[in-house]
Amino acid sequence: MEFSYHNPTAIEFGLGKISALSTLIAKDQKVLLVYGGGSIKKNGVYDQVIKALENHTFVEFSGVEVNPSIETMNKALEIVKSEKIDFVLAVGGGSVIDGCKYLVAAAKYDGDAWDFLDGSAEVEAALPLGVVLTLAATGSESNNLTVVSKRETDEKRMYFSNFSYPQFAIMDPSVLGTLSDTQLANGLVDAFMHTSEQYITYPTSSLVNDGYAETLFRGLAQLAKTWEDRRTLKWQENLMYIANQALNFQIGNGVPQDWSTHLIGHELTAFYGLDHAKSLAVVLPHLLRVMMDDKGEKISQMGEKVFGITNDNEAVIVAIEKMITSVGISIKLSDYEIDAQDVVISRVTKALEEHGYTAIGEKGNVTLDKVSKILTMSMN
Ligand code: NZQ
Ligand code: ZN
Repeated sequence: MEFSYHNPTAIEFGLGKISALSTLIAKDQKVLLVYGGGSIKKNGVYDQVIKALENHTFVEFSGVEVNPSIETMNKALEIVKSEKIDFVLAVGGGSVIDGCKYLVAAAKYDGDAWDFLDGSAEVEAALPLGVVLTLAATGSESNNLTVVSKRETDEKRMYFSNFSYPQFAIMDPSVLGTLSDTQLANGLVDAFMHTSEQYITYPTSSLVNDGYAETLFRGLAQLAKTWEDRRTLKWQENLMYIANQALNFQIGNGVPQDWSTHLIGHELTAFYGLDHAKSLAVVLPHLLRVMMDDKGEKISQMGEKVFGITNDNEAVIVAIEKMITSVGISIKLSDYEIDAQDVVISRVTKALEEHGYTAIGEKGNVTLDKVSKILTMSMN
């Protein structure tokens, strides 16, 4: 075990917490309030934010799209510069938050900030960022990961930087009440995938990581089992907390991590627009079968600790598949109207190759032929 971990994001969790904005941002800071397509105007979040900022000076930028693009965020960048913004407040889900993480770094960079995404530059400074979370899924509200897209080239890429940590994240679970069933299901599945990327690798001696990841898995399995209660506060606040814990990278401290499901999923979203969680659900079960020799021991441990299944790894994968499909999400790429199998495989493997991902996974042995195999299984 060896790691460095410093997560500076302050969490304000609970009903009515949006009002805390009035003191969390200093009054002399000029704020850019950033949001997405307008859901916050329908559920009262916008009104609560405006009320909390009544003694602040702020301007607004809206229209950040799902899977945020640099094309859109570069428009926000012009406002940051022309209005001399000091503080960016992201109000939304992972897309708005990630768009703002890119924005705060771009604001302090002289070149084209896509450089952070293609790895040609590292972030060295950023404006301060705060978050009001409205969708439980990504964990972006308190982590150092940024995922943005370039529409011009159909690319969806990511980078890590400690300058991406928000100063604070406000999580009022009652704001999840207006999410659709599919968004709630996406959140549950994405949180499951984040836990699995940091757990279903190979055995280590880390009792903390395994034990906590298994707790998160059991919580998510319980939420899937009680799907009929998804409109209750009790259900939604658990999703909000679990999704946050699943990707603040604490369970990944000092243990091997996979992330191949995410890397493949990002290419599927870049080409075919699948929701992020759906792009992962069509990959993971097939990946587990293809990588069974490497992942068998952890699959078996998970079976025992999460699903109460012993000595039957195929049954564990089937239990994962049932959990995903029980909340209405498909595990088959063939359920989406996309290109023919050979075209899908060639586009995804070519993009992975161009992005330098030819040997991914915790052991670097998820090669492009394995990716082809995984996609073939998902298409049939
Ligand atoms: O645009 P608005 O109006 O906000 O509507 C959104 C959007 O249409 C809506 N929504 C959000 N809160 C709502 C609501 N609708 C009703 N009531 C509410 N309270 O939900 C839709 C989806 O929002 P989005 O932000 O796109 O969802 P999510 O949080 O799942 O974020 C997905 C993005 O995050 C990236 C994904 O790749 C994708 O781009 N990820 C970011 C990660 C990170 N930074 O750590 C890790 C993840 O693995 C992931 O890659
Ligand atoms: Zn994810």
